[in-house]
Amino acid sequence: MAHQILFNFKLKLQIVLLVATSLVELVFSAEESKYESCKPRNCGSGPNISYPFYVYGNNTDYCGHPGFRVHCTDHRPIYKTSAADYIIHNIDYERQSFRLVNLEVLNNTNCPTPQQNYSFDRSSVDFSPDHADIFFFYNCNYSISANYTESRVTCNGSIVEKVYVVLVPKDEPFDWNRTACEFVVAAPVQLGQWEINRTITGIDYKKKLSDGFTLRWIGLGYNCADCQSSGGLCGFEEENSVCYCPDGTHPKHCKDGEFCFF
Ligand SMILES: *[C@@H]1O[C@H](CO)[C@@H](O)[C@H](O)[C@H]1NC(C)=O
Ligand SMILES: *[C@@H]1O[C@H](CO)[C@@H](O)[C@H](O)[C@H]1NC(C)=O
Ligand SMILES: *[C@@H]1O[C@H](CO)[C@@H](O)[C@H](O)[C@H]1NC(C)=O
Ligand SMILES: *[C@@H]1O[C@H](CO)[C@@H](O)[C@H](O)[C@H]1NC(C)=O
Ligand SMILES: *[C@@H]1O[C@H](CO)[C@@H](O)[C@H](O)[C@H]1NC(C)=O
Ligand SMILES: *[C@@H]1O[C@H](CO)[C@@H](O)[C@H](O)[C@H]1NC(C)=O
Ligand SMILES: *[C@@H]1O[C@H](CO)[C@@H](O)[C@H](O)[C@H]1NC(C)=O
Ligand SMILES: *[C@@H]1O[C@H](CO)[C@@H](O)[C@H](O)[C@H]1NC(C)=O
Ligand SMILES: *[C@@H]1O[C@H](CO)[C@@H](O)[C@H](O)[C@H]1NC(C)=O
Repeated sequence: MAHQILFNFKLKLQIVLLVATSLVELVFSAEESKYESCKPRNCGSGPNISYPFYVYGNNTDYCGHPGFRVHCTDHRPIYKTSAADYIIHNIDYERQSFRLVNLEVLNNTNCPTPQQNYSFDRSSVDFSPDHADIFFFYNCNYSISANYTESRVTCNGSIVEKVYVVLVPKDEPFDWNRTACEFVVAAPVQLGQWEINRTITGIDYKKKLSDGFTLRWIGLGYNCADCQSSGGLCGFEEENSVCYCPDGTHPKHCKDGEFCFF
């Protein structure tokens, strides 16, 4: 009888241990694959994508910050906003900035005529100080009478009827005859130090548009350097920044205590 109980106990212990080890293995391999799947990579061209950015797909949202999703489309890294799609030309992880070019502009560099305003989540990204806007006025029946210099749009050597452009320094207010045109669209550009007082006639606005503009990321409240220098890869889970290491998930860097398991 006692032998029987002992046998049962041993069996149960074995089962418990078996279940426990396989659970541990499951958790461990999931953790290991997070480290693997968050490794920096590119879309076939363009910059390497890593935290706060992440490549969309395979449910790897935990590799980056919400709002920094990158779509690999035709081997190019695309940053999508509610208003427009942009190619990411480069990412400067040290300066925490990245340069975007509007796809709509790249589609027609001879004659860029953006049809949509831009819209960025200004709580996570902001323009660099040399930001300016080029305003496009469409279907204008009258002079727009703006208080910044206006210019006609020329494409392939001929003037495009009823379209005007104006260069407005960073987020400055300006006036125009609001009833003269059907609609107005603003497109961000970036000016050199020596260009800040120029008007639309003093710059090559088509080149400015296809050069793109720089955004800086702000307010993420997390310095990834500690994690990286300990050999980890930063990630983001349930509103918290985490550090993925070869041995699992840690709160800040690979040498601190284990996150929640074990
Ligand atoms: C991307 O990372 C790889 C490996 O670290 C490196 O060799 C390559 O130069 C990087 N590419 C760019 C565009 O920074
Ligand atoms: C998803 O995973 C597959 C298989 O590992 C891989 O070939 C593919 O590139 C991944 N896609 C993305 C967007 O990460
Ligand atoms: C670029 O042009 C192609 C072909 O004309 C069109 O299908 C696509 O929608 C355009 N993309 C943008 C972002 O305007
Ligand atoms: C200008 O010329 C280019 C190339 O010849 C052509 O693709 C484009 O449609 C033309 N644009 C306009 C507005 O006529
Ligand atoms: C244009 O008008 C706006 C709004 O009245 C004003 O704030 C701005 O200083 C004016 N700019 C110029 C260059 O006159
Ligand atoms: C503003 O535009 C309206 C028509 O949209 C026109 O009647 C008016 O003369 C314009 N005003 C100026 C100052 O150009
Ligand atoms: C410009 O004129 C056309 C033709 O008369 C008219 O259909 C259109 O509504 C006018 N646009 C504006 C912005 O007044
Ligand atoms: C674009 O933004 C400007 C102001 O920045 C606004 O006046 C205009 O109506 C907007 N255009 C569209 C098409 O939403
Ligand atoms: C731009 O204009 C302002 C005001 O007129 C002036 O104070 C400033 O020196 C000018 N900057 C450059 C780079 O020309």
